[in-house]
Parts: sequence; C-alpha cells; structure tokens
Amino acid sequence: MVLLRYLGGLIRRLHRNWKVARNQNMSTNYYYDSTRTFVIPMAESFYAMRILEDDRLVNVGSGALPAGTILDFSAMERYDESEYAFDVQRWRLELPTYGDISYHDVALKVAFPEAPSSLTDGDAPHSPVRDLRLRYIGHDVVSSDTDEGQPWLAPEHGLPTKSSVARDVLVIRMKDIAYDLYVTLFYRITPEYGIIERWLEIENQTPFDVPVEALAFGTVHVPNGRYDLTRTAGAWAREFGTVTQPLETGKFILDHQGLNTGHPNNPFYLLNRRGEATEHAGEVFFGALAYSGNWSLRFEALATTAVRVHGGYETTDFELTLEPGETHCTPAFVHGVSGQGRGGASRQLHGFIRDYVLPNPPGGEFRPVLYNSWEATYFDLSTESQIALARKAAAIGVELYCVDDGWFGARRHDRAGLGDWTVSADVFPDGLTPLADEVRRLGMRFGLWVEPEMINPDSDLYRAHPDWVLHYPGRPRTEGRQQLILDFGRPEVVEHIFEVLDSLVRDNGITFFKWDMNRYASEPGSVSGQAIWRDHVAGVYSIMDQLRAKYPALDIQSCSGGGGRIDIGILGRVDQVWTSDNTDPIDRVFIEDGYSLAYPLRAMESWVTHEVNHQTGRRTSLDLRFDVAMRGALGIGTPLSKLSDDELEAYRRKIAFYKAIRPIVQGGDLYRLRIEPGVSIWQIVVDTASVYSEAFVEGSRLGIYNAPTRLVGLVATSTYAVTDEHNADLGQYSGSQLMALGLPASGPGGGMNASVRSRTLLVKKV
Ligand code: DGJ
Repeated sequence: MVLLRYLGGLIRRLHRNWKVARNQNMSTNYYYDSTRTFVIPMAESFYAMRILEDDRLVNVGSGALPAGTILDFSAMERYDESEYAFDVQRWRLELPTYGDISYHDVALKVAFPEAPSSLTDGDAPHSPVRDLRLRYIGHDVVSSDTDEGQPWLAPEHGLPTKSSVARDVLVIRMKDIAYDLYVTLFYRITPEYGIIERWLEIENQTPFDVPVEALAFGTVHVPNGRYDLTRTAGAWAREFGTVTQPLETGKFILDHQGLNTGHPNNPFYLLNRRGEATEHAGEVFFGALAYSGNWSLRFEALATTAVRVHGGYETTDFELTLEPGETHCTPAFVHGVSGQGRGGASRQLHGFIRDYVLPNPPGGEFRPVLYNSWEATYFDLSTESQIALARKAAAIGVELYCVDDGWFGARRHDRAGLGDWTVSADVFPDGLTPLADEVRRLGMRFGLWVEPEMINPDSDLYRAHPDWVLHYPGRPRTEGRQQLILDFGRPEVVEHIFEVLDSLVRDNGITFFKWDMNRYASEPGSVSGQAIWRDHVAGVYSIMDQLRAKYPALDIQSCSGGGGRIDIGILGRVDQVWTSDNTDPIDRVFIEDGYSLAYPLRAMESWVTHEVNHQTGRRTSLDLRFDVAMRGALGIGTPLSKLSDDELEAYRRKIAFYKAIRPIVQGGDLYRLRIEPGVSIWQIVVDTASVYSEAFVEGSRLGIYNAPTRLVGLVATSTYAVTDEHNADLGQYSGSQLMALGLPASGPGGGMNASVRSRTLLVKKV
C-alpha cells in the first residue's frame, strides 16, 4: 500500500514535469530571476511574491493599478523590512506555517511523529516535531486546460463553462528543510477579472503518518493598515444581511460547521482601508472560498497593522492524516482587488463566476422562468391540481415547471418519507408521466424537488438501513425537521443516492432538480470518522458531477432551507441558487443586495408569491413583488388557480417584460447605485442598454425630496429611450442628462412620494 502510494507520487511528479515541459512555451513568465520575484500582472491589479536568500517565500504586495500599467520587477530594493525581524511569524510568509516562532495564526500545521534518525544524534526524541519550515524548491507555469493540478474540490467539474479560454497556473513547489513533506502552491490566474484562485497540495513522502492539524487553502496578505470588513450575516429567512465593521487588532473569525455553507455567515469578504473606499470608489480587497463544507475565514490584524486572511477548513473537528505517499489537495481560495470600490469588487467576482464557474449547458444561455409549486400546494398534491397549475403557468409564459416537496413515498407531511424517492401512488396513481408529459406538451421543462442527503426515521430506507445515518451508537441523536443525515462516509450510500437520482431522471425525463438540504449536522458519527466533514461534501459534489456528466441537459438548483448552500464551490455544479425562503419583497430586496456583493444575478432565483406573504403576513403590490423578483432568475410561486383572469394577464405581461430585459439582468454588469435603509436602486448595464431597478420599501416621508438617482456607464452623446413593462414610452434622454441628473422620480408627489414604491425600466440606446 505504502509502496503503491510512493510510486503514485513519483508517477504524478514525472507526469506533471512532462506537462510543464509541454506547456512552458505558451505561458507568460511570471518570474524575475534577477530579483527572484514572482509578479502576477492582471487587468487592473497585481500580486507579487519574492524568494528570500534562505528560500523562504514572502508576499511582497498586491493592489489595484491603473489599466495598462507595465510592471517591471527585474530590479528592486527590499521592501519588506519584516524579514529582519526576529519574530518570523510577523513576516509576510506567503504560507504561514506552524514552525520557528509561532504565536500568530497559521495556514498549515503538521506534526511529524519523530525526528529523522540522522538528525537526532542520540538525543532523546522530542516528538512529535511541530516545526514546519517550507523552502522554495522550484516553480512552473502550466496551462489550466491540462488536467494536472486541478483540485477535485475546486470549481472544476468537467462541464463546459461560458469561457473555455485556457488560463495560466503558476505552480510553486516547497519542501520542509528536513522532512520529505512537499507543499505545492497553485495560483490559477484570470487576468481580465483580476482573480487568482489559490489552492495547496500537500504530499507526504516521509516514511510515517503525518497528521495535519490546521489547513487553509491559502493566506492573503493586504497592505498594512487599518481596515473595514464588509461581509454578510443572517439566519433562516433573513440571509445575506450586509454588515460593515472595523477590523480591530486581534482575530475575527467567520465560519460554519454544519456540513453546508450555512446561513449565519457566507464565505466571502471585502476589505478596504478604513474610510478609503465606498460602493463606488477606492481600493477593495476581496476573497471567497470555493467550498460548501465546514469553512473558516480567519482575519488577523496584528498590532503592527499587518493584516492577513487565512481561508480554509474549519478546525474544530478537523482531522486529516497523510499516510506515507499520500497527497491532499485543498479546495480553492478565490481572491482579488478592485480599484472601483465595493461595486467593482462585486463586478469582478460576478464576471468571473459567470464566465468560469457556472455551468453553461447546451442551450442554457439564460435561466428559464420557473414555476415552483411549494407555496401554492405544499404537501397537498395531485395529478389534476398540478396539471391545472402547469397549464396556467404555461399560459403566463413560464418555461420550467418544478414540483416541490410531497411527491414521493409517505411524504404527506414533513414527518415521513424522506429517503424513499419513489413516486407516491396515493398522489400520482399513474406515476409522474401524465404530469411530466403535459408539462412538456405545454412547452415547458419538467423539474422535481429532492433532498438527497436526508432521511426521516419514518421511512422505508431507514427501516432497511438504520445504520446509514450519522450518529454515535448508543448515544442520543438530534433530529432537525424530524430528519437525520445520511452517512456519506459510506460509499454504498453515495452510490445508492446517485442511482436513485439517476433513475428519476431516466424514468421521468427530468431536466431540473431542486436539491434541498434542510438541517445542519449534529452527532457527526460516521464510518469515515472525522473525515466525514470533507467526505460529505465530496459525496454531494461527486453525485452532482456524475449526474451532470451523464445528462448534459440536467440543471440543478442549490437550496438549503433557503440560502444555506451558496458558495463558489457549489456554483461550479449548479445553475441557480435559492437565496431565501423569505419571499416578502420588502425583506427580499436587502437579501438580494447582500447576495449581490459576491454572487451573480444570473444564479439568483427569486419568486413572486402570494399578495399576503406566507412568511411575514405582509401585503404587498404585484408591482413590488415583480420588481424585486425580476432582479435575478425570475420564478413564480403563486397559487395561479386562485387568480382572476385580469391578474393572470398582469402576470403574463410582466413575465413578457422580464424576458425582454433578461439578457441584461442575467448577463450585465451590476451597479448598486443607492443602497440605504429602506432603499435599493440598481442599474444593470450591457453595451447599449441598462435595466434600472428601484425599490423604496420603507417609503419616504412627505417633505423630504428624494433626488433622482444618476445613472452610470452610458454614452454621454447618445440618446436613450426609457420604457416600462407596458412598453410605454417614458421619454428620451441624452446619456449626459441621465448621468448628470438621473431619471425623473416616479409617482404622485415625485420624489416626495411617501408610499412604498418600485419600478423596473429598460433604458435603451436609440
Ligand atoms: C425548504 C425550501 O427552502 C423550500 O423552498 C421548500 O422546498 C421546502 N424546503 C420543502 O420542504
């Protein structure tokens, strides 16, 4: 076994060297030999590292630059005086490891069980040796269109993305000063969006097992200074609340340990020097993790004003031991810097995710208008009522019909049936075929809700395999929503779930799964021990990857009790995400603001539901509900059978308008023009047109005049026609007027209108 692993490592290294040789000629040279400096130039930013005389690798700097700046690091002075400091942990070590003098946070900590006999010289062993000192041993530049060096958890799943441009990957190899422990640092570069994806590979070529006690995917250093951190915080039904807070000296941790990405925090951040950036201007450093399991972002602000961010696995119950010859490859830490404020940082992330992360299935240029049955029928389903809904949905312009919970096993309520993924004969006596056929005949695609990782104790699956759940034998276990979590540490469970989903697709012509996950983990006892935290995510990813590889037309939506599983890792495998179960537009609009800090609108599913909202009990107008839902991938969740013909006609008209603006909403650049308590105004821009989306949801006070909001990104000398959903001509304006004065305010009282109001306008060059 050990020998096999050793040979495996050797073959991998030889293979990589061959690929490197093959690719070397086509890549940019990121290395200045004269100064032993690596510089990664990107469209409007850079990232630089240097190899010191003793072969340590330190970060030299990164930041925003004017476009077109030529970087030349072939001669340079020493910038980093920290290398003279006694306190090594204060150095800007590219990968801070536990070793030397270690009292700051680190990206990597390992324990060598014994000292090499050649070095002990008869001394008593002082083991384990917790002293990792990495030194540069070589580097290469490879092309990302090779399969080498692609981490299995990073957003690489073999599906075509919108852009297939091969990108350079800078590969820096390091080794401990004594032990045969190799650490390879990967930097995949997307210059047009100023994004670097970082990950690590650790290879144990020592003769003994090496426990890894802490492992980040990378560390990001920002220039020394005082910073403000912008991030999101929330809970079920109020996900993605935007928070900006000073990063005080000390440590601040964002994390989650529930087996999913989580509602309380989301794995991304924006950092700017205090007071030096706004939504619209200033330098903003940003980062996000491409991982859907237990994660942490640890912000460390030292008394020296040095600031670094370690992004990687959450360590509370982390366990990873590398056997001799074994390698571990981490997911990716995605990061960059913008010179255009928080808005610029969001646009870089959005463009990157749209072009290089989200799947781009055949014919999938835009996300279809969805109907979801959940809020209309909950667990009360029948062939007839679903067909009736589907007919109404098709008539108003819906393109994808998804049956939510309740169609399978004994799932007539949320206390039973999870795990039994066979169509309930009580609900659909002739199976799903009559409904699915009718949906397709109506010109829509057919989708189903599933919650594959879960099981109700009251299910046939549980009765057959009571040992297939996470638990500690003989100890109490906690149910959430009356359900337990399947043990994805068991390969037979992962295989079973794949087969179940595979046959659902095969037998019913399903082209869309809403993949839900409605509880966090508890008592995580698994046959794979503490590795379950990583194995679970790997199981989910592998099922999704296999399904998508087998069925190119299959789309997936990620849902986890609303927005509990949204991150760049899952976005490499799903087409859209459910940001929240809260469909009240007055709450939703701010959930959308927070989501949009990191993630693209194309993937943001948003529904129009009941006039009196089921979560908040608040009554809102149809205009407001549509205006808020049209900011992403539009969905409808209203019980259409209860609407009058006039109401259905209003839905039809608004959906037609959405389809006209959809290429802009789903593919354009987002400018958050005005975000204030109670106010959210966006402009989404493509070459010759914009969508202007305005929501005043707390209402302004009479006597206060809201100035019109000025538009951005137009051609000053061009003329723009402004239209609404009725295609009503709302006037023609010059680009200069719209950018200088904005659009006139709407409604009675103009800018003094005291009511809740919203509008969505198309601004198009004539
Ligand atoms: C939670 C989801 O967020 C809802 O949209 C719905 O699918 C329910 N689960 C179904 O149980």
